[in-house]
Amino acid sequence: MGETIQVNDVTTIEQQGDIALICIDNPPVNATGLAVREGLQKALAQLNAEGSAKVIALYCAGRTFIAGADIREFGKPPQAPSLPDVIDAIEDSPLPVISVIHGTALGGGFEVAMGTHARIAIPGARIGLPEVLLGILPGAGGTQRLPRLAGIPFALDLAVSGRHVPVAEAQEKGAIDRIMEGAPRDVALKAAQEVLDGTLATRRTRDLTTDAADDAVSATLAMVTKKNPHLVNLQKCVESIAASTLPLADGLAVERQKFMECMETPQRSGMIHAFFGERAVSNIPEAKGATRDLKKIGVIGGGTMGSGISTSCLMAGIPVRLVEVAQDGLDRGVQTITKNLDGAVSRGKMSAEKRDAALAMLEPSLAMEDLADVDLVIEAVFEKMEIKKEIFGKLNTICKDGAILASNTSYLDVNEIAESTDRPQDVLGLHFFSPAHVMRLLEIVQGAKTADDVLATGFALAKKLKKVGVLAQVCDGFIGNRILGHYSKTASYLVLDGATPQQVDDALEAFGFAMGPHKVGDLAGLDIGYMTRQRKREEGMDPNERYAGRVADLIVEEGWKGRKTGKGYYVYDAGAPVPNEAVEDIIAKVRQENGITAKDFSDQEIVDRYMTAMIVEAARVVEDGTAKRPLDVDMVFLFGYGFPRFRGGPLHYADTIGAAELVKRIETYAKEDAHYWQVPAILRKMADEGTTFADLNG
Ligand code: CAA
Repeated sequence: MGETIQVNDVTTIEQQGDIALICIDNPPVNATGLAVREGLQKALAQLNAEGSAKVIALYCAGRTFIAGADIREFGKPPQAPSLPDVIDAIEDSPLPVISVIHGTALGGGFEVAMGTHARIAIPGARIGLPEVLLGILPGAGGTQRLPRLAGIPFALDLAVSGRHVPVAEAQEKGAIDRIMEGAPRDVALKAAQEVLDGTLATRRTRDLTTDAADDAVSATLAMVTKKNPHLVNLQKCVESIAASTLPLADGLAVERQKFMECMETPQRSGMIHAFFGERAVSNIPEAKGATRDLKKIGVIGGGTMGSGISTSCLMAGIPVRLVEVAQDGLDRGVQTITKNLDGAVSRGKMSAEKRDAALAMLEPSLAMEDLADVDLVIEAVFEKMEIKKEIFGKLNTICKDGAILASNTSYLDVNEIAESTDRPQDVLGLHFFSPAHVMRLLEIVQGAKTADDVLATGFALAKKLKKVGVLAQVCDGFIGNRILGHYSKTASYLVLDGATPQQVDDALEAFGFAMGPHKVGDLAGLDIGYMTRQRKREEGMDPNERYAGRVADLIVEEGWKGRKTGKGYYVYDAGAPVPNEAVEDIIAKVRQENGITAKDFSDQEIVDRYMTAMIVEAARVVEDGTAKRPLDVDMVFLFGYGFPRFRGGPLHYADTIGAAELVKRIETYAKEDAHYWQVPAILRKMADEGTTFADLNG
């Protein structure tokens, strides 16, 4: 090893004869924060000034090449040198500079590599421009240099999808020059020697030109505008790539302008909140520490949920013993799992061989006793406390010591379930969302006596299943369904008071939800809400509460349960669903029964009321500790309820409105219904003190 000079905390130079190595070491992912930018700039200036080396090779320590700009700096005042300036300095360097990529070269990281004069990758590495997933676009020359290296169509593909591309594919397109085996430092030395020997060519990307690709540009623009009309960064990204036919300086100016516009949008802040939130939910003491085995899982119930959970475990390579009470139910369960796995194959999520291997790990059984040797049992049967207690009582005698006993209940009291065993410390709630092999949310419900290692194993399971595990405390509906139970009434009140179901759906879809609440109801089956309302009625309704379910009750009583019966709020024939005209009569009848005179609601008012109701209950869920932090609520909604990612989640969105404005809104609505619209104490306090939900995220 040659002498190593520390340029700054994260950058070193090492000279070996005519070769100078610059190494970046900025864990965990070598993001180009200020120190990295300064280090690179200084190292380059120093090496060019000294003139003792003939070639410079840049590589990184740790698990990856530079994985991008430091996202934590976004939204803060910029500090020089900027990344584009550093990349210009690399490209301008009189000494040739090559880069050695291992792990992932993403965003600003790949842009740094494109500024170097040749890119060498280590097998297994990936490159990408995932900025669009953060609400921005590649802002350090990526939209200009990638088209020059690999053509506009490939640049569009990469930057619009944000996908991480294997380096072999990138080499085929021209974005990578050479693939070489070895450790990053060894490859850096080897490749630099080849530059000296003249067997590895170097060139400046800025000297290349690219051909216009008008068809690809207009097709991509049409596609992103149709598919993601809210994501303005996608359109700007396409326009910026189209500008790569201009001289470099002009193209870079277009890119910078559009990048800065994206940085100012709330969607940038929403999507970055989503990025960090997804990681922060399991960055808590409860998710860490010792865990128990998860070698074999038992699932009780072969219905939609049980089959989906089994599918998810099998896809993660965990053997499953599926138990049902009757042969036909068991057969249906196996059929559903097979269908789910076939679907995964046809969607390209798994190979046919993997599907066969997964199915071979499924052991169907009619005997609960067969669960004696599993490490974890997930009960997914009908939502009735008596049935659950009976099952857990049996599991108590059947399961081995230390086995974890989980209920997939969506709202029942996990403590009461736990008390039907002699081992409440082994019991927790694992609430999956349908379809369980697709939806990424897993609510991990902590009972009063759940042991620490049982809870940590819940998080370990979420990780194995590639799900987002969120800690929730026991209450009716936990985090998600409790909040849903509250705000979904707003949609019904809006319809009772004058809006049409379609207007409500359209307004909320325009806000960003994939589907409005009435379409979701039709999809899930209107009979489900009907049964829940019946249960609540049996338990005793709050006499002060305005009943929201009358219209839906009458629709179900007509035999219209939504999509599965061809009719609900909408009629489902061939083609797009159309509003069910008979529902208008039902609404008119209910208004008449209640002496309601219909009024007009603007789309904005529909969104405001719906979102305010969601925020109100979400605030209460944080206030009483059901959710640990506001970000946990946000991730529940992003990964389980189709909340638009670019808005960051209900409480991130709440901060964009501000507590004072929310309090004002609630007090206005309370003039119509003081029981439903009450200001949560936490929100009033925030309004008084001028604080935000983000302040509570820690
Ligand atoms: N900035 C700051 N922190 C980052 C980061 C970034 N770009 N990328 C990852 N991290 C952090 C994560 O938050 C996480 O921190 P904690 O351990 O504190 O939770 C840690 O690094 C490890 O990340 P992961 O848990 O995600 O690790 P992984 O091995 O599963 O994945 C990865 C690694 C593929 C690099 C993934 O982290 C990733 O996709 N990162 C984002 C990459 C990206 O979007 N780059 C573009 C940035 S924007 C840009 O570059 C703009 C521009 O044009 C100038």
